[in-house]
Amino acid sequence: MRVAIIGQGYVGLTIAVGAAGAGHTVVGFDVNQDLVDQLNSGKSHIEGISDSQLAGYITSGLFTASVDPSVLEGSDVIVIAVPTPLNDDRNPDLSFVHAAADLITKNVTNTKLIINESTSYPGTLRGEIAALITHSGVAHFYASSPERVDPGNKEWNLKNTPRLIGGLSPEAVAKAKEFYASFCDSIIEVSSPEVAEAAKIFENTFRQVNIALVNEFAQISDALGISSREVIEAAATKPYGFMPFNPGPGVGGHCIPVDPSYLAHVANEVGVPATFIKRANEVNLAMPAYVVKRVVAGAGGSITGKSVVVVGVSYKANVADTRETPAAAVIDLLRAQGANVVWHDDLVGSWRGECSAALGAFDIAIVVTKHDGVSDAAINASKYVFDCTGTIAGVDGI
Ligand SMILES: NC(=O)c1ccc[n+]([C@@H]2O[C@H](COP(=O)([O-])OP(=O)(O)OC[C@H]3O[C@@H](n4cnc5c(N)ncnc54)[C@H](O)[C@@H]3O)[C@@H](O)[C@H]2O)c1
Repeated sequence: MRVAIIGQGYVGLTIAVGAAGAGHTVVGFDVNQDLVDQLNSGKSHIEGISDSQLAGYITSGLFTASVDPSVLEGSDVIVIAVPTPLNDDRNPDLSFVHAAADLITKNVTNTKLIINESTSYPGTLRGEIAALITHSGVAHFYASSPERVDPGNKEWNLKNTPRLIGGLSPEAVAKAKEFYASFCDSIIEVSSPEVAEAAKIFENTFRQVNIALVNEFAQISDALGISSREVIEAAATKPYGFMPFNPGPGVGGHCIPVDPSYLAHVANEVGVPATFIKRANEVNLAMPAYVVKRVVAGAGGSITGKSVVVVGVSYKANVADTRETPAAAVIDLLRAQGANVVWHDDLVGSWRGECSAALGAFDIAIVVTKHDGVSDAAINASKYVFDCTGTIAGVDGI
């Protein structure tokens, strides 16, 4: 098949490489000229896809990137993989999805299979994509297959993670199944795109709420003088009915801090208040302040004028993604209390106009995220260490 993918970020490029690997001819369309140039020169910007893999597909003619929307017309399948962030009021911002629908409306005159992989609330494929494109007068096939990729996960990937599919017609579902079956092991058909869309945001809401619960529990445990991590480990010995989650400095990335608010938004519209999501957001967003409070107490009551290194500013280990990272709030709160703060993260390199600093003998080291290459010894060179990851023995932390 000839496949066009709108958006060449974490999701779009992953699908592009998966589809090229199955022998499809893929064009990765993106509005970012620099990214398109970088991809066409064989340089991948995400973990899990190597430069050599990308270069191989370019050389064999199975992958090209483009900023030219006319490439959409030459494809059989169009996959939408654009951002679905929150606006300043923490409500869904579907402007990127609408822009993708607009691109298809203006540039495609023949019937295609159009698949949305962007995460959004139930009703998005039907009401926010198909309803807009219908104005073009072309009758397309529409399916929803929300992406479940977990960047950096070595066990679960595009191929072996089961894929949900729901479509606006049986033909759309059949075509989408044929496409995904060429590079995914397991396909699960659901009765409507709304079920597929809702499943994706419910999965991430489940994580968000459980992380908030364990973050609150960590605060209770600390006040009681017991280790939350030891309690969680003990509880996890129960062979049924318990699933362990780990406390941390908050939640980051494009999914957990964002997707549940899409569910809360649509719940509100149908008159059901999503109280768990609201409370979970409050708890998770308050974790950086809790970390700083513990650090101030642990470091003797004041951090004014003290040298602090924040170790790991990406939102999770072994990835360079800093979207929604709690490290930002931790650093801002430390600086507001007069600390001299630098950060160390060689995977990220530069961020918010600052560069990664070398580890050394600081007054305080706060470990927000710990990549595999960072040694405990280098962190422990600082006088006081606070570990949010639960991986450094014998120091304070959550
Ligand atoms: N990152 C993840 O781990 C992950 C996992 C599952 C699902 N998702 C979902 O997948 C979607 C995409 O996320 P992502 O992480 O790939 O985002 P991203 O920010 O990494 O990439 C999005 C890309 O889309 C491009 N883009 C924006 N508007 C465009 C347009 N009108 N036309 C063409 N390209 C456009 C951007 O330039 C960017 O390169 C989101 O809905 C997200 O919630 C992400």
